[in-house]
Amino acid sequence: MKKRLLTGDRPTGPLHLGHYFGSLENRIKLQNKGYETFIIIADYQVLTDRFDTADLKENISNLIKDYISVGLDPKKSIFFIQSQIPQLAELTQIFSMLTPVSRVSRNPTVKEEVKSMKLGKRMSLGMFSYPVSQAADILLFRADVVPVGEDQLPHLELTREIAKKFNSVYGRVFPVPRPLLGSSPRLMGLDGQKMSKSRNNAIFLSDSAQGVRQKIMKAKTDSGKKVVYDRDEKFFISGLMDLYALVTDKTILQVEKKYTHSSYKKFKEDLADSIIRFLIPIQEKRRRLTSSAINKILSSGLEKASIEAEKTMAQVRKVMKMDYGRS
Ligand code: TRP
Repeated sequence: MKKRLLTGDRPTGPLHLGHYFGSLENRIKLQNKGYETFIIIADYQVLTDRFDTADLKENISNLIKDYISVGLDPKKSIFFIQSQIPQLAELTQIFSMLTPVSRVSRNPTVKEEVKSMKLGKRMSLGMFSYPVSQAADILLFRADVVPVGEDQLPHLELTREIAKKFNSVYGRVFPVPRPLLGSSPRLMGLDGQKMSKSRNNAIFLSDSAQGVRQKIMKAKTDSGKKVVYDRDEKFFISGLMDLYALVTDKTILQVEKKYTHSSYKKFKEDLADSIIRFLIPIQEKRRRLTSSAINKILSSGLEKASIEAEKTMAQVRKVMKMDYGRS
């Protein structure tokens, strides 16, 4: 049996280098190794912390462009939209019954999101319980492997627990999936914090050469002058060196050797050039994508995902002895 991979993103804005080295790179590698690849665009999950739906459509289309331009291939991978698969809501309902409230209350990623969005008491029930819905995203498609960033590990842990719980209570339907971290699960942004679209510290896959240069030249550095790798004394420079190593496929040692005698400025200019070079083929591919191509990718994804979704739900209903009333 072919191994299956599922992962996805919220359509909240363009993808950046943190996504690339945190997760996209692994998706592409496994897709090309022959894994059956499912990519979920988690539009309902966006609504956990906002009501506004105005940008979803545009963001979804840009997300597909990002995916295809980095090398995810619609001939090999299935792209689908969360809100178009009603079986996800069904399975979420069932999983909610198997999950103690106390278990969901101690999810550090949800706590972090509630804090950073300053939701406090306004936190919605959907925000509180979205890890259960994410477990449904993963398990409905019976994924074996889930390439994600580090922040998603608590959700994967819960998913594994729910899979085991369901299997032991009702019968074995779900594989217990494992997370797969990327080569840089926590890429530093240009301000020293984790690279993130909401923190305004990211280099996007779609950034122009000029934009990249401006961002890199403005990135924070440390006191002193030497380009050396030292996570304590040279926190910011080390983060930029990580980025350099990733986009040029060099080791930190090689980067250090090359730049110990250079100024910060020279190092940053070269870093900007290297990023721009890294992005050129990605952006060329992006430009060739038409909106009708994107529509086709989504409608064929919906068709294939729906078949898988219904297959699993039929099994779920059967082992739960809730397949009554259908002919
Ligand atoms: N929570 C993920 C994020 O914010 C998106 C997501 C939704 C996801 N469903 C998923 C990731 C299932 C992996 C598997 O990036």
